[in-house]
Amino acid sequence: MADALKIGIAGLGTVGASLARILTTRANELAVTCGRAIEITAVTARDRSRDRGADLSRAEWFSSPEELAEKADIDVFVELIGGAEGTADRSVRAALARGLHVVTANKALLARCGVELAAIAEEKGVLLNFEAAVAGGIPVIKALRESLTGNTISRIYGIMNGTCNYILTRMEKEGLSFEACLKEAQRLGYAEADPTFDIEGNDTAHKLAILTTLAFGTRIAADQIYLEGISNISIEDIHAAADLGYRIKLLGVAQRTESGIEQRVHPTMVPHDSVIAQVDGVTNAVAIESDILGELLMVGPGAGGNATASAVLGDIADIAKSRPGAQRVPVLGKPAASLEVYQQAQMQSHEGGYFIRLTVLDRAGVFANVATQMAQNGISLESIVQRANGGSASDAKTIILVTHATTEDSVRKAVAGIKGGNYLSGEPQVIRIERPKAF
Ligand code: HSE
Repeated sequence: MADALKIGIAGLGTVGASLARILTTRANELAVTCGRAIEITAVTARDRSRDRGADLSRAEWFSSPEELAEKADIDVFVELIGGAEGTADRSVRAALARGLHVVTANKALLARCGVELAAIAEEKGVLLNFEAAVAGGIPVIKALRESLTGNTISRIYGIMNGTCNYILTRMEKEGLSFEACLKEAQRLGYAEADPTFDIEGNDTAHKLAILTTLAFGTRIAADQIYLEGISNISIEDIHAAADLGYRIKLLGVAQRTESGIEQRVHPTMVPHDSVIAQVDGVTNAVAIESDILGELLMVGPGAGGNATASAVLGDIADIAKSRPGAQRVPVLGKPAASLEVYQQAQMQSHEGGYFIRLTVLDRAGVFANVATQMAQNGISLESIVQRANGGSASDAKTIILVTHATTEDSVRKAVAGIKGGNYLSGEPQVIRIERPKAF
């Protein structure tokens, strides 16, 4: 059997501890599968005394990730610290500079400087693997980077944040408050260290930026994503969506359009009978529409210790099985230097259906004015309903509109016209509708 693969783990939180437990309890099976043992040779974590349920007594402890990356006698640096800058960034760069392979779950870091890191890894002839960075345990990176080679991808979209999906599901099914669901997601180890990254959509945006690059061969453009989180979604929206045959999900969507690539993260209404609408709780789903294969939908656990550790382990095993000096799969699907310049499609030209919920004063002519604003902006309506007792003010009514396909620009203009009518008693709610093709 070949020499053991020596790994150093930086970060022993939820994911790092799960990884350490799996590597120690399944050491024999992994050695047979990979043709060599995988040994945790070095570790670093903020709290050294915590019991992680794994025997780390033979691993050398380092005082910081940077020190581990620079000095440990290892083949692979496993970064499970998180954060777009600082320690994670410095230690990954130090490891690559030394010619170590790197495995990371850090979507924020890759979204910020993934192309640069990929170029360094390629120059050094080492692997930079990051399956765990997107959609937890779902092997979507491998699917895009390897399995779909040669396909032209037209759209990639999905539920990529377990925390948000968990919150939306429990609000809908159990009528729990947003805050109670978020607390539970934190307790279960799904949420980011700062959960606003989850609920405001930044975490999904980081993941989408990485998928866009792999799907379309363009440079990472995380700062050019249209972003809306779920903190504005109320139980009224969830119920109204259900009445109309939809469910609300936080989706990340990237698609080719005639004017460039559209990248957007926002609460989205999906038809109730679509598969993605049935994806509940912490589960993630990623759909890929391509010309040769057609539509591929991958569904699986999206967050939490074991789901994420499973993806990290797969990346480590790939390195253990790889032969020294062998040709490497380019980190981002094609060589970093050949990634194209990202051309952004403007959000105003986004086309699709819209759900609009208005809380209006109960006055003569209001309904007619709403309809006029729609007509003046060329928006054709699929349905329009008015409900009693839906508003916050005592004489308020709720009007819910669902449009046929129109443009973002038209909807914004119509909503601005409605706001100018001085009959609203609350902020209008606008939710985009996304229609899956095959599923
Ligand atoms: N906070 C993330 C989520 C963890 O909820 O999906 C996985 O990236």
